[in-house]
Amino acid sequence: MTLLALETSCDETSAAVVRDGVVLSTIVSSQVRMHAEYGGVVPELAAREHLRNFQPVVRAALREAGIGAEQLEAIAATQGPGLPTALLVGFKAGQGMAFALNKPFIGAHHHEAHLYSPWIGGSPLHSDFESFVPNVSLIVSGGHTMLVHVEGLLKHRVLGGTIDDAAGECFDKTGKLMGLAYPAGPVIDRLAEQGNPAAHTFPRPLLSDPSDDFSFSGLKTSVRYFIRDHPAILDDPQSVRDLCASVQAAIVEVLVTKTLRAAKRLGVQCVTASGGVTCNRALRSALDAACQKFRIKLRLAEKSLCTDNAAMIGILAEQKLKIGLPATSFDADIAPGMQIA
Ligand code: KG4
Ligand code: ZN
Repeated sequence: MTLLALETSCDETSAAVVRDGVVLSTIVSSQVRMHAEYGGVVPELAAREHLRNFQPVVRAALREAGIGAEQLEAIAATQGPGLPTALLVGFKAGQGMAFALNKPFIGAHHHEAHLYSPWIGGSPLHSDFESFVPNVSLIVSGGHTMLVHVEGLLKHRVLGGTIDDAAGECFDKTGKLMGLAYPAGPVIDRLAEQGNPAAHTFPRPLLSDPSDDFSFSGLKTSVRYFIRDHPAILDDPQSVRDLCASVQAAIVEVLVTKTLRAAKRLGVQCVTASGGVTCNRALRSALDAACQKFRIKLRLAEKSLCTDNAAMIGILAEQKLKIGLPATSFDADIAPGMQIA
């Protein structure tokens, strides 16, 4: 089956062509530089940018895949969760294309799609997905932090999520307190490389709580008070690097400890991770070390595909059609608060 997938849930306009579990093309146009000026994503501007970028991105995805629109057998788009104005662009355009081509349309859940992003690569999804299930999957981005128990293709259960800020939000907000550019996650990653993670001890929220939930707002507040009480720290580049490394160490320890604890409790042999924060090098190596220690297989999304992309939407949507799930109606609406199902 050849399918065109669209993703416009936040600040990336993306289109991908997927065929039989293989991604033929993925085009991502990021708006991050535009939103950086405002210190965060401005929904109205995001929607306008999606409208501007939509056609070139779709055309590029089809061209790169060597596919004409008439060869498409289905269209998929993110239905939720996400920013309403941003979601509307890809979802409604996707419905329109499917209607015009007289092909089925599939609305996909953004987080459910993230579960498949570690399988976007050269080989088809079905070649080794089954050897990685059951698994515990960490989805960690600017908007969400959650642990999911994946029992098989399209079979999963959310174990826990953040009760306040997401991990990426914590990176971005603590970075803002340090005067770093938005999004601060990648900047902290880079500065932390030459910093001392033991320079300061920040709280590890819910670390010993038996639930699979996360909380990062207390950590952010603690960094705020620390900077208020030691303002001179921001004038010394090495002190900023130490601060970055210490904040990063707190976030990474919570994410890794809780992911591995859930995996051991459920007796799974595999862990996967995706979402923008999975680009973080300290998180990737800490997950790797912890999984090796407990002899658990680890599958991380490729760095370029940790962040939002349409390929993961296409991989998920194709599976849904293959098992005979009904198409999404042409007059269905976006679902900005959609729960993972
Ligand atoms: O998945 P994503 O592109 O968008 C959302 O759905 O939110 O994730 C963006 C988030 C931002 O908070 C950004 O700071 C964070 O991912 N991020 C990182 C790194 N690269 C991106 N956080 C820490 N270290 C990184 N290297
Ligand atoms: Zn995402």
